[in-house]
Amino acid sequence: MTLTDDHTVLASSKTPFYQAVGDEREVFRAAAGRGLPVLLKGPTGCGKTRFVEAMAAELGRELITVAGHEDMTSADLVGRFLLKGGETVWVDGPLTRAVRAGAVFYLDEVVEARQDTTVVIHPLADHRRELPVDRLGTTVPAAPGFHLVISYNPGYQSVLKSLKESTRQRFVAIELGFPPQAIEVEVIAHEAGIDEQTARVLVTLGNAIRGLDGISLREVASTRMLILAGGLIAEGLSPRSAVRSAVVQALSDDQDVNRALGELVDAILPRS
Ligand SMILES: Nc1ncnc2c1ncn2[C@@H]1O[C@H](COP(=O)(O)OP(=O)(O)OP(=O)(O)O)[C@@H](O)[C@H]1O
Ligand SMILES: [Mg+2]
Repeated sequence: MTLTDDHTVLASSKTPFYQAVGDEREVFRAAAGRGLPVLLKGPTGCGKTRFVEAMAAELGRELITVAGHEDMTSADLVGRFLLKGGETVWVDGPLTRAVRAGAVFYLDEVVEARQDTTVVIHPLADHRRELPVDRLGTTVPAAPGFHLVISYNPGYQSVLKSLKESTRQRFVAIELGFPPQAIEVEVIAHEAGIDEQTARVLVTLGNAIRGLDGISLREVASTRMLILAGGLIAEGLSPRSAVRSAVVQALSDDQDVNRALGELVDAILPRS
């Protein structure tokens, strides 16, 4: 992957590893085939970004990713006039570039952006497939291959308010969650470079944390967290230290919660 100066991620020639959990690959391909926009939902660290990266590569399309944030303006997406050497020149934003190039445009964390910003994607999300560029007084038709993908974490509810219902209903929604045990073991072993037995212990711990009752966590242990812990183990750290740093301390600052998580770790992880 190449990270350019404006946070755009371009697909590399190598297809990223993505282990499907259900029929998400088929649904995404069918939606892409019809030019239907896709809405990915799922908790943080469950594989949404990786899934889009893999699908763009499999479909042989460029991927342009933008992370939504509250200060984002429509000009950040569409483009703006800039002064260059005394001249005013128009510079396409990442959305306009994707529309012209027939790329996959991935608006990550759409919930973070304000509605007056996300409204610019509306004409791209239905049969019009075009982007009005008001400042140029033109409308850019989407090149074949253009595919709009947005994602959000349903744990942070407000996207339902920030996306118009009429737009939401044009999106094909794909829900991603944490994979079932056998698949998550495979993913963690692959990504962290550890053996399956170690990965299995991490997944057992992850599932135990996910199933914990009575303690308040904003997020549970994600696949990403377990991969981080696995990576520390691959570096030679003991599993307990790795999990304390990458999972327990990362999940919560609350002493009581950390103690409860620590007890779980002690019960599940072998002493080393
Ligand atoms: N099904 C999967 N196949 C392969 N790798 C996966 C899978 N699920 C998760 N991963 C791994 O987990 C890591 C985190 O996933 P990713 O960054 O895609 O999460 P996300 O859902 O986009 O999270 P966020 O909402 O925080 O952006 C990936 O870098 C990848 O290593
Ligand atoms: Mg992501």
